Amino acid sequence: MSDLSIQELQQIAESYQKYLVPAMFKECSEQLVSHAGITPGQRVLDIACGTGILARTAAKQVGENGSVVGLDMNPGMLSVARQLAPDLEWQQGIAEELPFEDNSFDITFCQFSLMFFQDKQTAIREMLRILTSQGRLYIAVFNSLEHIPAYQQLLSIYADFVDEDKVHFLSSPFQLGDIQELNSLLLESGLESPRITSGELNAVWPDVRSLVLADVEGWFPLAGIELGDDQVEEVIKQTKSELGEYINGDGSIAFTMPYHLISHKHY
Ligand SMILES: C[S@@+](CC[C@H](N)C(=O)[O-])C[C@H]1O[C@@H](n2cnc3c(N)ncnc32)[C@H](O)[C@@H]1O
Repeated sequence: MSDLSIQELQQIAESYQKYLVPAMFKECSEQLVSHAGITPGQRVLDIACGTGILARTAAKQVGENGSVVGLDMNPGMLSVARQLAPDLEWQQGIAEELPFEDNSFDITFCQFSLMFFQDKQTAIREMLRILTSQGRLYIAVFNSLEHIPAYQQLLSIYADFVDEDKVHFLSSPFQLGDIQELNSLLLESGLESPRITSGELNAVWPDVRSLVLADVEGWFPLAGIELGDDQVEEVIKQTKSELGEYINGDGSIAFTMPYHLISHKHY
């Protein structure tokens, strides 16, 4: 990420917002916010907020006396978040060192980001530190790739076009899918009795091109992967042929993305 200019980061974030948020992150935000049962007046934090879909969804619930803060380390993501919701508070920072006092938030969310943190244990300890004594924490992480066969197939198509170490990086969003390992991580991070439940998203893109561009424009550049136009067309062609069973009559493509939801109450 550090090699990219702010303009490049912003462009990537715009593609993320265009192709990935409506396809799946919006639905998850709605599920998490509804699950949390936010009440007016509460102080909510969205850690690693990206372009801020969860923060915007939570803001509808906190009322005039409540507040929502979105934090992310990527200034491009925050720039898009600010454009979409200038009235919310957006802060640049890292999850491992949250720039907030102890006991500052009633509800903290971390949606599909823990997998990327360099020091996951420190980040979870930080999440606990900033919660009030009655506070609640909700973390969503994807299930393992073996439970998402459509995306597994897509990754094997990408594998023909990108270096092997990069393919490994592209599977990193799914690295916390193993429930035993996840549970150990949570216990080692100070979560005494973590509750892990299953969630499911119905990820839908209007067409195969949008699915492929979601990755090529909204994700690959962060991994230093650049595909030429001809390669992108070839990936789209192969995806149409190999993921045919997920393509609907109107050309849209849909598959289930299972995830784990970690819920923690401080009391
Ligand atoms: C897949 S996106 C999820 C964004 C958002 N939660 C959503 O649901 O759309 C992962 C985000 O984590 C952020 N991120 C990764 N590591 C981070 C860290 N150590 N501290 C803060 N943000 C981080 C990235 O910048 C990116 O915006």
